[in-house]
Amino acid sequence: MPRTRFDKIEWVAETGSTNQDALAAAAAGAQEGLVLLADYQTAGRGRLNRTWEAPRGASVLVSVLLRPSVGPNELFLLTAACAVAARQAVAEVTGVELALKWPNDLIWVAPDGGTRKVAGILAESHVVGSNVDAVVVGMGLNVNWPADLPDDLAAIATALNHLSGKDIDRNDIVVAWLRHYDELLQLIENSSTRAQFLELYAAQLMTLGQTVRVETANETFIGVAKQLTANGHLLVQYENEEREITVADVVHLRPHE
Ligand code: BTN
Repeated sequence: MPRTRFDKIEWVAETGSTNQDALAAAAAGAQEGLVLLADYQTAGRGRLNRTWEAPRGASVLVSVLLRPSVGPNELFLLTAACAVAARQAVAEVTGVELALKWPNDLIWVAPDGGTRKVAGILAESHVVGSNVDAVVVGMGLNVNWPADLPDDLAAIATALNHLSGKDIDRNDIVVAWLRHYDELLQLIENSSTRAQFLELYAAQLMTLGQTVRVETANETFIGVAKQLTANGHLLVQYENEEREITVADVVHLRPHE
């Protein structure tokens, strides 16, 4: 693998949460570029305080430690780059083309337009005073899942082996993903190439232009996803008003006519 910032990689059989481990490492002074992987997590964390479950050895469960040189309002770029890199790595290794759903899910779009989640991303910050000292970006990517998924999961999720018809080597995915992630982070870190990254991201984000159901902690409404703000929030047209969404689940209903 060509040299990247990801030069310290630890892969364990089992842990509570790789995000939690990476945050502890950040607090203890670990350098940018630490990569923690696990075959199984007993307390995997998802967005919106959910848990994240995956069968043993079936997923890439990974967290990277970054010490970002982007401003606090631009931290979403780190998760966006993680998603774009994962999409690139999956296409390269398996030939499967995934799409991005706001904020950072990787989804498969079925021929009938239905969607299934293949990966989710959770960023957590280690804050010292009012400064973001480190950001841990964690990803769970479904790679080799059993044929029979429980009905509730089968309705919303799938895995790369189901999409490509064969088992996939998780190492190959990790190596390709880290290479792409490093390249994209370099684009972001350089102010003259950051716009190039944002264009790439917006072009892959299939949420824009869709009629969406937005589910926040307080309400659910249906609107049209219009654009991304400079800090990665989603602007949704709801009746006569434009709403800026910071944290929510978004369900794609159909392309907006
Ligand atoms: C989501 O809810 O969509 C985000 C899920 C993120 C899960 C990954 S698995 C590896 C890393 N460690 C964790 O505890 N969570 C993230």
